[in-house]
This record gives sequence, structure tokens and C-alpha cells, in this order.
Amino acid sequence: MCGIFGVTGEPDALPLILGALHQLEYRGYDSAGVALVADGGIWRVRAADGTRSVADLSQLTTDHPPPVGHGAGIGHTRWATHGHPTAENAHPHLDCTGRLALVHNGIIENHGALRADLVAGGHIMSSATDTEVMAHLIERHMAAGLSLAEATRAALGLVRGAFSIAVVHADEPDTIVAARRSTPLVLGLRQGVALLASDIPALLGHARQLYALADDEVAVLTPGAISVTTLAGTPVRPEELHIAWDLEAARKDGYEDFMSKEMHEQPGAVAATLLDRRGPDGRLRLDEMRLSPADLRQVDKVCIVACGSSYHAALVAKYAIEHWVKLPTEVDIASEFRYRDPVMTERTLCVGVSQSGETLDTSKAIEEASRLGAKVLVVSNVVDSSMARQADGVLYTRAGPEVGVASTKCHLAQIVALEILGLTLAQIHGTLTPEQIASALNEMDRLPELIEQALRRSSAVDDVAGKLIEARDFFFLGRHVGYPMALEGALKLKELAYLRAEGYAAGELKHGPIALIEPGTVVVGIATRNRLWEKLLSNIAEVHSRGATVVLVADDGDREAAAVADHVLWVPPCSPLLSPVVGVVPLQQLAYRLARLHGHDVDRPRNLAKTVTVE
Ligand code: M6R
Repeated sequence: MCGIFGVTGEPDALPLILGALHQLEYRGYDSAGVALVADGGIWRVRAADGTRSVADLSQLTTDHPPPVGHGAGIGHTRWATHGHPTAENAHPHLDCTGRLALVHNGIIENHGALRADLVAGGHIMSSATDTEVMAHLIERHMAAGLSLAEATRAALGLVRGAFSIAVVHADEPDTIVAARRSTPLVLGLRQGVALLASDIPALLGHARQLYALADDEVAVLTPGAISVTTLAGTPVRPEELHIAWDLEAARKDGYEDFMSKEMHEQPGAVAATLLDRRGPDGRLRLDEMRLSPADLRQVDKVCIVACGSSYHAALVAKYAIEHWVKLPTEVDIASEFRYRDPVMTERTLCVGVSQSGETLDTSKAIEEASRLGAKVLVVSNVVDSSMARQADGVLYTRAGPEVGVASTKCHLAQIVALEILGLTLAQIHGTLTPEQIASALNEMDRLPELIEQALRRSSAVDDVAGKLIEARDFFFLGRHVGYPMALEGALKLKELAYLRAEGYAAGELKHGPIALIEPGTVVVGIATRNRLWEKLLSNIAEVHSRGATVVLVADDGDREAAAVADHVLWVPPCSPLLSPVVGVVPLQQLAYRLARLHGHDVDRPRNLAKTVTVE
């Protein structure tokens, strides 16, 4: 996610801002920039050199220092969502006058309509970002005589989506106006200085008092002072924070490790991946995808290639695409795909799914699909990753950087992105009515809240994990979409807790592996309701009667499931095709807790790399 820093009242702001941007690098970023109010205008420098961008800024500003004596300053590290990671798209963005500079973290959902309106009114845009529209909206209101704070409040009233922003203007050289909705912004004060940042680590050591800005609040920072109002202009007292964290703890937002932080970011990751996918007519519209409706209309087969958790997300998508679009959908382990003479034509849509967009096996698989004539689409979390550049089209999950080696928030975001792709194909192929698509999307909109509810139940999962501490053999069983969920639960347990765990299609168990079931074996069954739920419960009864300890993931209040289980991990119910997005959460939590109980480092499991760039 993007990082923001701002300071006013500091006579030599540039080193402070660059130092803070350096602190923010851990969030992951692709470009960076700084703006200072100086010489009656805005002095700005930007760099787009991946994770070297902040170092580039230091060099650039050493070679070409800003004017001596300046007012407020803002800086930004960008994690691209709308627009490629180029210097033109790097923040801060200016308005048409060049006297206003703005940095932003988040996604402006209605940026397309706002941009069209501004351009029709004569504004000239110089980037492909959603952010830039806010600079021009504020400019428009200032031209009508409003102050920077008033204009910002008025502009934000027109904006839909998630944002934290900081704005400076040459007319008010010592002022920074900041605001937020859904993404964090922290304010800091010390004698004669006011500061802001997108997270606490960047402010540690710089501010004596810290305050959290709440949703739809606007702060005005002047040297040594902060005042906060609602969007309507009513004054409010910001909440003071009492932080006893060191830098490392602060980077983890107070969580014990990145994995718990990232699990808690899952509602936001799913919400961001769902944002901005519908046009004004309510129809799905994947602007960034590059493949046209005509390209997608001619598709007669879908083939998805991926590894690890991305492969499991792809398996869920197979059920959705075949159900909604009635297109044959194959899912391949990427490392096997190119060595088995896959059959594809120019009417095949090959989808490469990869969090990093750099996994060699998946990259080689899509290269092969392309060679065989297929259209290649990549689902990636990293904008302009190698695979995103290699493909004909790209669909981004917008989960923000994932640091923990075990994929959590990106896995959920991948399922959501692939299901959006499925619904888009159904729209283009006419296999679902607009009402059916709207109803599926409305249900998807509930997912962040359902994930939130599932996350709140972690102590119940911890209790179950505590009872399984002696167990060494686990089977994860599921049917229908419960099968990929079982595979994902088993993978998480293997990679984090180093416990033997097999994910199996429950109906296949009696064809061999049931011989392994004995007292002491733990069977984790995915018993959320789908059309094979009854059959799954019969499979579970078979292992229960052979002495296995049974843990079931089940929908709230499902007494029949509880009757065949020793322990139940309850989840809020949702429709079968979406259920993995909620039901995987307790599986992540179970693996996490068992790993911790066994004393393992959940962020850096042994023998594993976050991104596998070798065969
Ligand atoms: O970056 P990718 O999505 O291509 O990575 C694929 C796998 O390496 C990855 O999902 C891996 O299995 C994770 N450690 C699972 O938690």
C-alpha cells in the first residue's frame, strides 16, 4: 500500500521526509516523490525505479537541492493500482496551476466519471492515476474562492472510495490539509512542528503526541498545531494514541507478526479488489484488463495455471466459471503444465494466477500458452510484475504488499478477482441474466463483513488448536469448493506448523487413504453448506467411527454437522461459490496457532521463499 508523510514547521524538511519515506519502504512500493512549498510555488521531485526509488530521490535532491527556506512538505511511496509505476504516475500530483500538490493512499472508485467531468471543464490531466482527479477537484473549488481546507472538504464530498490524502498549496505555504476514509492516517505534534503519516512507524521519534484521524475527518496542520473537523466542517477532537511500540512492532501495526497483520487486512483486501468493477449502468467492466469483450466472447475454453495457494484459488474459480459460464475450465499446476503437451487454440483463455507475478513456473506456463496461441490473462497482486507485462491482459488483486511467506490476504483476493472474471465472462457470453450477476455481486459486497466476523472468532480456533497440540497427522477433507479449501488448509498447516497434512477430496478417501485413519489422526472437514454437504457428512462419519478426531468448519448453527464433530469452527454462512473466501479464515488461524504453539516463526517458515523464481 502507498505510504504518506507530511511535515510543517520544520526548517529543513527534506531530509526528514526522505528518512520517513525510507521508513515506509517496508510496505512495498514501486515509485516515490516529494513536494515542498517553496519560492512561491511547488518544488517537486519524483522517481520510479522500484524499491530503489527513495534512494534515487536522495541522489536527485543532492544533485538538485530545493530552494533554501520552504514551507510545508509532503512525500509518498506508491504501490501502483491505477496507472503503471512510472514517474508521471508517481505522487505528489499537481493541479493545473502547479500550485497545489497532493498525495494519496487508496482507490477513488468514481475517478472515471470525475475525470471526464474535469476534462470537459478544461482541466488537463498529466497522469493515468485515480488520484490526480482530487488535485483538480480541489483546484476547482479554490478557484471559486474557498480556502484549501474548505475546498478539500467540498471536493471529498464528491469522491467515492477509500483514501487518505495530504495536500499543500503555495497560497497557504505552512498548511497541510489531510483527510481519510477507510485507509489510516496518523497525526503527530511536537513544539512548533506538525506531522502526518500513513502509519505509526514513520512518526516514531518525530512526534511527542500522536492522534488518529477517523473516517471522513479533515485535519489542518500548521506549525505546532492541528485542528480537525468533519467533512461538514464541524470541529472534532481527534483520538490521542498512546503507543509503546518499538519500530519493528509498529511496522506490524502492533500485531505480533506480519501474518496476523495480513490476516486482519483481509476484509480490506477483498473490498479493494471488488472496488470500481461496475460501470454507471451497473454492468461489470474490467477497465485495466486490456482484453476486449470481443476477445472474451470468442473464448471457448479456460485454462488456469498457478502454484501453491494461487493454484487453490484457481481450483475454486473452476467451480464458479463452469457453473456460471458453462465453459470447460482446466486448472493446472504450473510446473506440470508446459511438460504435458497442453492442447490450446487461439480461442483458449489461459489465466496465470500469481500473487508476486514473478513465480518462474507460472511465468513459463503462460509463455507456453502464448506460444500455443492462447490469449493470456494474468491475475497478479503486483502492478507491472514480469507476468503482468508478459500477458495480453491483467487483472489486479488489490491486497497491498504481502510480507508473510504464507499467502493469506492475497489468496482471498485471488478468489474474488477470479470470480469477478467468471461473472464478466458470464455477462459477455450471456449465460447469466443481469439480475443474476447483480445478485452475485451484491453478495460479494458482503464478504468483507463476513470475513471480519470470521476473524473475530480467533479465540475459539485457538482453543481447538490447544487441544490438537499433540497431533502429528492431519487430513483435510472437502467436496465441491470445500476440496480446494481443504488443500489450502493442509498447505497452511504444512508450511507453518511443519505437520504432516494431506488435503483430499472427501469422496476419494475410501479409495485408499482411509487405511491411514486411526485414533490420533485429526480430520479437518469443510462442512459449509454446498450441494455435497450431506455426502461430506457421511464421509466424516466414516472417519469418526474409525477413531479420528474430527474438526469441522461449519455454518453457524448447523447442528447436524456438530453432531459428527469433536470440535466445530463456526463461520457465518454465505453462498457455496463464495464460501471459500470466508471458510478459509479459520483454517489460516488454525495453522497459525499450531505453528505458534510449536514455537515456529510464522513469517519466515523454514526452507521457504516468498517468491519462487527457480524451477
Ligand atoms: O507469487 P505466487 O502466487 O505465484 O506464489 C505461488 C506460491 O509459491 C505461493 O502461493 C506459496 O504456495 C505460498 N507460500 C502459500 O502460502
